[in-house]
Amino acid sequence: MLTDLLDHNIKWATERRREDPDYFKKLSELQRPDYLWIGCSDSRVPANVITGLKPGEVFVHRNVGNLVHRGDLNLLSVVEFAVEALEVKHIIVCGHYGCGGVNAAMDGHRHGIVDHWLQPVRDVAESADGQLSKITDRETRLNRLCELNVAAQIDSLARTPIIRSAWQRGRDIRIHGWIYGLNDGLIRDLECGVSGNEPRPSGQIQTIHSA
Ligand code: CO
Repeated sequence: MLTDLLDHNIKWATERRREDPDYFKKLSELQRPDYLWIGCSDSRVPANVITGLKPGEVFVHRNVGNLVHRGDLNLLSVVEFAVEALEVKHIIVCGHYGCGGVNAAMDGHRHGIVDHWLQPVRDVAESADGQLSKITDRETRLNRLCELNVAAQIDSLARTPIIRSAWQRGRDIRIHGWIYGLNDGLIRDLECGVSGNEPRPSGQIQTIHSA
C-alpha cells in the first residue's frame, strides 16, 4: 500500500530528527559525497543499502544493465556533475550476477526499445565470443558476461572527455569495477579498476568469482 510508504517516511524522518535535531538542516546545506555509483536499475541492488552508505554519501545513477552509453546525456550530466561539482574521488560501476538486462540482450527475443539500449551488451558478448562459447552452462555464461560488461563500461567511461580531462588536470579519480551477487548479498571487486596514472583496462578480466 502506498500509504505504508508515507507512514514509513514519517517514522524515518522523525527518527532522524530524534537522533540529531539538525540532521536535515545539515544535509540540505551540503552535498559532498566521495562516491559516484553507476549501477543497474534492478530493485534488488540498492546502492545505499548494500554498501551501508547514508543519505549524502553516494551520488547515484542507475539504468538497465549499468551501461555507459557515451551519447547518454542523462549519464554524462551525472558524471560531469559528480566529477566537477561534487569532486568525487571514486566512481563505482557495479553490475550484478543474474542481470535481467544482460539476459534480455542474449536471449534472442524481441523486447522493444530496450533491445536498442542493450546493444553494447551484445557487442561485449560478440567480442568475447571466444571465451563465452567455451562455457557450456548458460547461467555461468551469462554471469561471465555480467562481469565482462562491467569491464567494458569502465573502459567506455574512462574514454569520455569528462574523465580524460579530469585526469589530464591531475584529478585523483579512480574508477572501480564491482559485481554484486543476488544469491549471497556480497559485492566482489573485479579488479578491473583504473585511475589516471594507469593504462586503461583491456577488458580482459579474470573470472575471480562465480555467482
Ligand atoms: Co540488472
